[in-house]
Amino acid sequence: MKNMVAIILAAGKGTRMRSKLPKVLHKVGGKAMLEHVLEAAAAAGAEEKLVVVGHGAEAVSRLVGDRGRTVLQEQQLGTGHAVLQTKAALADFRGTALILCGDTPLLDGAELARFCQVHKDSGNAATVLTTMMDDPTGYGRILRDEEGRVRAIVEEKDATAEEKKIREVNTGIYCLDCPLLFETLATLTCDNAQGEYYLTDVLAKLTAAGKSVGGVVCPDSDMVLGINSRRQLAEAEALMRRRILYKLMDAGVTVMDPASTFIDADVSIGPDTVIYPYTWLESGSRIGEDCEIGPNVRLSNVQVGDGCHLQFLYGHDCRIGNNITAGPYVHLRPDTVLHDNVKIGNFVEVKNSSVGRGTKLPHLTYIGDSDIGSGVNMGCGCITVNYDGKNKHRTVIGDNAFIGCNTNLIAPVKVGDDCYVGAGSTITKEVPAAALGIARAKQQNIEGWAEKYRSK
Ligand code: UD1
Ligand code: CA
Repeated sequence: MKNMVAIILAAGKGTRMRSKLPKVLHKVGGKAMLEHVLEAAAAAGAEEKLVVVGHGAEAVSRLVGDRGRTVLQEQQLGTGHAVLQTKAALADFRGTALILCGDTPLLDGAELARFCQVHKDSGNAATVLTTMMDDPTGYGRILRDEEGRVRAIVEEKDATAEEKKIREVNTGIYCLDCPLLFETLATLTCDNAQGEYYLTDVLAKLTAAGKSVGGVVCPDSDMVLGINSRRQLAEAEALMRRRILYKLMDAGVTVMDPASTFIDADVSIGPDTVIYPYTWLESGSRIGEDCEIGPNVRLSNVQVGDGCHLQFLYGHDCRIGNNITAGPYVHLRPDTVLHDNVKIGNFVEVKNSSVGRGTKLPHLTYIGDSDIGSGVNMGCGCITVNYDGKNKHRTVIGDNAFIGCNTNLIAPVKVGDDCYVGAGSTITKEVPAAALGIARAKQQNIEGWAEKYRSK
């Protein structure tokens, strides 16, 4: 038997965002707002998550995936109407309904769990999570009676001037006895400023019917910020960013300048790693211990081992071993694997290639679609010529090969182990192991030529 089910409201268009994207899919800390809410619901102990979808239902359902069950609200007639859509799905459920909105990305699972516990211990029919806002504009205001009990919630658009002065607001988060919730929802009307079925009216109806309704004040109003506009989205982003950085610092990471460091919520970083300014570490990235990352590094879905030093570098969808030095001005493109102790210098691009242990690419090189062995030295300006205008071809370089400066390796081509390739060569045929491959015009000197030329 389940004790608690979460109902997450995510069907609204988010008109105030002025966006083609459904509001709850806008990202905070590199993750859709709704994802943060799903995680908080799970952390609070919800055994099942029902997500009410409507606007952009397909995209929102895709995001939910197997993390919850979606219920369609065809027309968005208000938060009360949205919850009503889950009635059939919860027909046999006798426990607590935890109602959340998909637009509160800063919600903290542990804090939410505490709220649910307070509701359970109280024996109330319903409990609403409230908070004190310095600027309560846009939120529903909490009306309490002389004894301080929650009496009703009045929406901004329906509030009198006097009510608008109230700083205690509705966070849109509630625990309710489920059968009683649906019983009451059936009696809602939409005679209000917005012509909507307000979920908030359920509380007034419950108190009017003599049921006990609790109001728990959340001490951290940032945590329950509801995002309705792009301005609020940016505010949430800044708060989330600070939260992520503090957590990393508490775990032993040095962040030199939090104001210019952008790290997504799911990124992990090992202790004693130093993050220099102007660094972006995006979703899917993982950094080991004792690294120096930045300045000016952007990594998106890149896994980095221990002891790496990266600066002025952009990497995406690739893997970096331990003790790698790379930068400045390096581009690591998808499906690149750098094995331990690789050194990459300035102005180097690597794409869809594997670079073996201890190999050096010190300057001005393009490596594409290549398998490079270990201990290889690529001279300045070496290029793998991987594209013939129609197809891409691979270049294979054996262990301990030495490739002279300004070499073109015309793929498909293979250079064996322990080879040397003369500087300036354009290699089109395989160079066998331990050979010298040289392919360039022989030099000719014409004595006295300059003098003759000048006197013409
Ligand atoms: C709501 C509350 C308000 C509270 C605020 C907290 C009501 C009537 N008002 O106002 O008291 O202070 O949240 O942030 O409940 N949604 C649907 N279907 C609908 C309408 C909305 O699924 O028909 C979803 C939205 O996608 C959103 C959530 O419900 O995730 C809240 O809707 P929103 O329009 O943002 O409500 P607020 O005006 O912020
Ligand atoms: Ca809202």
